[in-house]
Amino acid sequence: MSILGIDYEKCSNCRICLTTCFMFRWDKEQEKVLFSDPYNLCNLCAHCIARCPEDAIQHEGIGEAFEYEGIAKPETIASYDTIYKFLRANRSVRLYKKKKVPPEILRKVFQAMENAPTGDNRRTENFSIISNTEQIKKLSDAIQEELINHPLTKGRYTRVFRILGKIFRSPIFFDAPHVIFIDSPEHHEVEANNIGIIITYGRLAAQALGLGTCWNGWSQIAMNSNPEIKKLANIDGKGIGAFIIGYPAVKFVRSPPRAPKEIKGLE
Ligand SMILES: Cc1cc2nc3c(=O)[nH]c(=O)nc-3n(C[C@H](O)[C@H](O)[C@H](O)COP(=O)(O)O)c2cc1C
Repeated sequence: MSILGIDYEKCSNCRICLTTCFMFRWDKEQEKVLFSDPYNLCNLCAHCIARCPEDAIQHEGIGEAFEYEGIAKPETIASYDTIYKFLRANRSVRLYKKKKVPPEILRKVFQAMENAPTGDNRRTENFSIISNTEQIKKLSDAIQEELINHPLTKGRYTRVFRILGKIFRSPIFFDAPHVIFIDSPEHHEVEANNIGIIITYGRLAAQALGLGTCWNGWSQIAMNSNPEIKKLANIDGKGIGAFIIGYPAVKFVRSPPRAPKEIKGLE
């Protein structure tokens, strides 16, 4: 996985790459741009690829760039008004149809998640999905057990799960047809942020596909206090995050109120 260098057949010497990354330099004698990364500092952000007008940056093992109308002026793709309404429509869905989501639709959700930014562009997180109802039930039972027995959570959750247990077979997951997990093999300082952003990308993509989702912090809390539970989800990462996904059996006819925040420093 790396940036290999420059395709001089395509390069027009416009030198945009020089203003993009310090690994590119102008060689006066050869009168051309050179790329070198002697200290292995390239984090594969690929801004060089994204900016080169001639598509002259050679690379391998990092996927393909994507060129489409509006990329250079994203504000023409979706207006603030559209985005704001889309964001305000995002709800935590806790009522699902039984029907499974076809893999090709789920793949689009993962595709959006793959494009979430991560600190230092590390992208070390693993993605997985559980769609087997019995496995979801076993996991739900183990997580519930942990939350209602652990001294730090039992006060908060015992009553909640007594009620939810009367409504759902897998109360932790509200009987959703799928649970998506993101787990990371490392304890990176900003790992929780990475996982949160990945989940958010996935949830927004899901909304654009007519799917409902709900963040599942309960999995995270229980798996952190009892790492054995991760085995039931076939994951073993240090950082974890989860959300449920499926066709919603609920409609919202207005976006709920959210009290405005006072913004310090903004006139
Ligand atoms: C980090 C995080 C963890 C959450 N964990 C859970 C959870 O475990 N179970 C649940 O039912 N909802 C969970 N939620 C959903 C919140 O309760 C929900 O976002 C909040 O009540 C506002 O509702 P809305 O998302 O529909 O606007 C979580 C949300 C976030 C951001």
